Amino acid sequence: MSERRVLLIVGGGIAAYKALELTRLLRKAGVAVRPILTRAGAEFVTPLSLSALAEDRVYSELFSLTDEAEMGHIQLSRSADLVVVAPATADLMAKAAHGLAGDLASTTLLATDKPVLMAPAMNVRMWEHAATRRNLETLRADGVHFVGPDEGAMACGEWGEGRMAEPEAILQAALALLAGAGAPPPAIAAPGPLAGRHVVVTAGPTAEALDPVRVLTNRSSGRQGFEIAGALARLGARVTLVAGPVSQPTPAGVSRIDVESAREMLSACQAALPADAAVCVAAVADWRPDEAFGVKLKKGKDGPPAIRLVENPDILATLSAAGPARPALVVGFAAETNDVEAHALAKLKRKGCDFIVANDVTQPGVMGGAENAVLIVSRDGVERWDRAPKAEVAARLADRIARALNA
Ligand code: CTP
Repeated sequence: MSERRVLLIVGGGIAAYKALELTRLLRKAGVAVRPILTRAGAEFVTPLSLSALAEDRVYSELFSLTDEAEMGHIQLSRSADLVVVAPATADLMAKAAHGLAGDLASTTLLATDKPVLMAPAMNVRMWEHAATRRNLETLRADGVHFVGPDEGAMACGEWGEGRMAEPEAILQAALALLAGAGAPPPAIAAPGPLAGRHVVVTAGPTAEALDPVRVLTNRSSGRQGFEIAGALARLGARVTLVAGPVSQPTPAGVSRIDVESAREMLSACQAALPADAAVCVAAVADWRPDEAFGVKLKKGKDGPPAIRLVENPDILATLSAAGPARPALVVGFAAETNDVEAHALAKLKRKGCDFIVANDVTQPGVMGGAENAVLIVSRDGVERWDRAPKAEVAARLADRIARALNA
């Protein structure tokens, strides 16, 4: 391992201090370290400490005459066997994903022909943001390797995924790549089977306004839909979750749009197209008051007001009949109390979707409970799934969707 060389790019984040320990560990393992310190990185660690531990000079400037004279940026990008980015900030990931080359670090990443290992570090919200998920997906597709991030307490006081992997874990990932082990080390996740796919999921109830303070709604918790959105994201999909009023936390990696009424839910779904799949889990109100009063209705001598209901648009049926904009796979749900299979098949035909996930809500513990026992009804037949926790049903359904899209 003594001949091996790492080009270490240190980005600007609180985790930059761990890059010093990583440098020490790499040196101890007999690996030469040539550091690039970004301007933001230099706000957290000094060039002097990095240089002392690396036993090499620190490169920082793209347009420095001395740097370019000693070693041009192209040569620098090729002078190592592996490029390690630690911490890989959201900004560095975005620059690398888009091929930007405005400073020495990003230019080096664009110019290198060597394997790249990134150790992301950022606030949990930034890590979960749809933009970062897209960049992660792009970088993975470009062959970039990742280690971490870990879950834990963050410098900003929040808790979640986004802490940079420990220097020892980054060292092990780097050594495995330097050894040319072929397969990436276990800490590096493979791209999921839904990478590059966009899925729209509806979840929760809708609330239909009667006046500015009153709504017609239902008791849907949104739990199953949120579980499905999370499971799809874990398989690498870009997920747009259109949610009615619920108190569920947004699953990691999911981009959420909050709506109230069925008509808003439909518009949000249509605006989110194109999509490879749509999964309609929402308990959409079938009807809404034909008039939403602009001011609060008052009690009066005429007694309670008569409310006339009109039918809401059917989101599942509308997306299934969206012509060229129709997602390749449209999945609906059905809660039935009897003749589950026959009713589900009739609903499949009536709404024009590809699968109906049907459950028998008369089974104890299903309605509002933690478990579900479902049938997957398609034109090809019926699959009966054993009773399982809702999270497991969600994971299995995400898997089934991936197989259908990749078939
Ligand atoms: N759905 C929808 N928009 C509506 C009503 C339902 O997208 N306005 C979707 C649900 O998200 C679910 C499926 O259609 O995927 C379930 O429909 P359901 O309400 O059970 O069916 P109905 O057509 O109302 O049939 P029935 O009341 O006879 O069971």
